[in-house]
Amino acid sequence: MTTYLVTGGAGFIGSHLAEALVTRGHRVRVVDSLVTGHRANLAHLPTVEFLEGDLADLSVARAAMDGVGIVFHQAAIPSVPRSVKDPITSHRANVDATLNVLVAARDAGVRRLVYAGSSSAYGNTPTLPKVESMPSDPLSPYALQKLMAEDYCRLFTRMYGLETVTTRYFNVFGPRQDPSSPYSGVISLFIRALCEGRQPTIYGNGEQTRDFTFVANVVDGVLRASEAPDASGQVMNVATGGRVSLNELFTRLRDMLGATVEPVYKADRAGDVRDSQADITKAGQVLGYRPTVTFEEGLVRTVAWYQATQAATR
Ligand code: UD1
Repeated sequence: MTTYLVTGGAGFIGSHLAEALVTRGHRVRVVDSLVTGHRANLAHLPTVEFLEGDLADLSVARAAMDGVGIVFHQAAIPSVPRSVKDPITSHRANVDATLNVLVAARDAGVRRLVYAGSSSAYGNTPTLPKVESMPSDPLSPYALQKLMAEDYCRLFTRMYGLETVTTRYFNVFGPRQDPSSPYSGVISLFIRALCEGRQPTIYGNGEQTRDFTFVANVVDGVLRASEAPDASGQVMNVATGGRVSLNELFTRLRDMLGATVEPVYKADRAGDVRDSQADITKAGQVLGYRPTVTFEEGLVRTVAWYQATQAATR
């Protein structure tokens, strides 16, 4: 029976992936440093084997890889502003750890590694939507790190024959996204502030746009990437394919939650991309991927989850 390794599996996206793998009857191991992840995200999955450790330490990566067939490399410090503030720590988590994971996977004879890339690699492209053939233009340490790690994946495919696939994520949101850090994803921060009657902060004029993607779509795309015959060595956008401004997002969430507060506008955030929207044609062709949960439906499910969680902790 194949063992599936999810690095960063105690995090938001990683825990959803672990859950989907368990549901399919697979044997799952998670390795996580718990720097941004939480053991509680796996509490409902007692069959998952859990290893706590930092993948920037090669011996941790080797131990995690023992007997593994397929790797989903999700571990990262996934924040643009955090990388601007502390590029060394985020480089260690996003690049050094990835190199260790690749070396360990190569040496353990792993069949395929799927890497969690980032749409931030594109930077500000002159046109939208963003297509994989466009040149990359990282605007922050985080974007550069995710791009470097993606290039390392492709190099390992070319040089050592390790099958790798990069799925570039576009602003993933959903249940279990942690709103407790200022570096958290904007949807989780807006929902939490609105639920608590506080004013959310909007950086810049709020007209920047994002291709917000519900987590179930990402899980589906990533699982397909682990199986699709022609995917090795490829980079693919996994997203919704739409684009929503921060102002629009704010208004929608405020209406859904019946809140009345106004946002507080602050200066643009350093390293921020202006607009983000994916062309998802390639993932459709290579993976048979298409989003099954719309942005609107995803928001409904996410808000319901935060409200239920809040009610349970009251
Ligand atoms: C996000 C991901 C990143 C991923 C990338 C892919 C998070 C934390 N980051 O980056 O890992 O690789 O998408 O597209 O999920 N904003 C506010 N107010 C806030 C917080 C944010 O206005 O309180 C704004 C930001 O300035 C930005 C937008 O909302 O313009 C999105 O920010 P954020 O959720 O941090 O995500 P990205 O930086 O786009």
